[in-house]
Amino acid sequence: KTLVVTLDGPAGSGKSTLAKKLADALNFQFLDTGATYRAVTFECMHRGVNLDDTEAVKGVASSITITFSDGGQRVLIDGVDRSREIRTREVTNSISKVANKPEIREILVTLQRKIASTGQFVTEGRDQGTVCFPDALWKFYIVASPQLRAERRLAQMIQQGLPVPAEGLPAILQDVIRRDEADMSRAVGPLRKAEDAIEVSTDGQTEAESLNHLVELVHQ
Ligand code: C5P
Repeated sequence: KTLVVTLDGPAGSGKSTLAKKLADALNFQFLDTGATYRAVTFECMHRGVNLDDTEAVKGVASSITITFSDGGQRVLIDGVDRSREIRTREVTNSISKVANKPEIREILVTLQRKIASTGQFVTEGRDQGTVCFPDALWKFYIVASPQLRAERRLAQMIQQGLPVPAEGLPAILQDVIRRDEADMSRAVGPLRKAEDAIEVSTDGQTEAESLNHLVELVHQ
C-alpha cells in the first residue's frame, strides 16, 4: 500500500478544503491535482494554443514545469505564480478539453505520482483512488448536492476576488452540472468512486464535522 490518502469527488463537494485540513491534521502534505489540469489549460489559452489540437496541448503539457508552494496552496507555472489565473470561469469551463485527452492525463498522473513520492500526501481530484493511487492506504469519495456545490463555488469566487457571472447562482449551477457530465463521461480517468473508497457526504455538515469524521476514519 502507498502512504497516500485520496479524496475524489465532483466539483464543489468541499474536498479541496477538506483535503487541506486533513493534511494538516495528519501532518501530511497536500496535493491539488485539479490545479495541474488547470495549469495546462491556462497555459494553452495564454499562449493561444487551440485546445482541440492534441499535439500542441501535449507540447505545452510536456514542456512546462508545474510546482506548488505555500503548503500546496499556490501553483507556479515555470516559476510564475498563477494561482489566481487558473481559477477563472473561462479556464474552468475549458478544462474538459484538456482533461479528456488520455495523452495529457498520462503526463499529469506521472507528475502527480512523482510529487506524492516525495513524502506523505493527501491528494484530491477525480481519479486519485481509481487511477493515480489504486493502492492508497485510505480512499474517500466526497459528495454533496449540486445546489450546495454551486453555492460553495460562488462563495469561493467572491472570496478569491474572481469575476462572478451576471446571472449569478443559476449560471454557476449550470456550470457545475455541465462539469459533472464531462467529468463522469470521460473515457479515461472518469470521475467515479473507487470500489474500496468510503463515501462521505458533506450535505448538512459543517466543515469541522466533516473533517472530524475523516480524521476518525483514518485513525480507525
Ligand atoms: O478540482 P478542480 O475543480 O480544480 O478540477 C478542475 C477540473 O480538472 C475538473 O473538472 C476535471 O475535469 C479535471 N480534473 C481531472 N482529474 C483530476 C483532477 C481534476 O480530470 N484528478
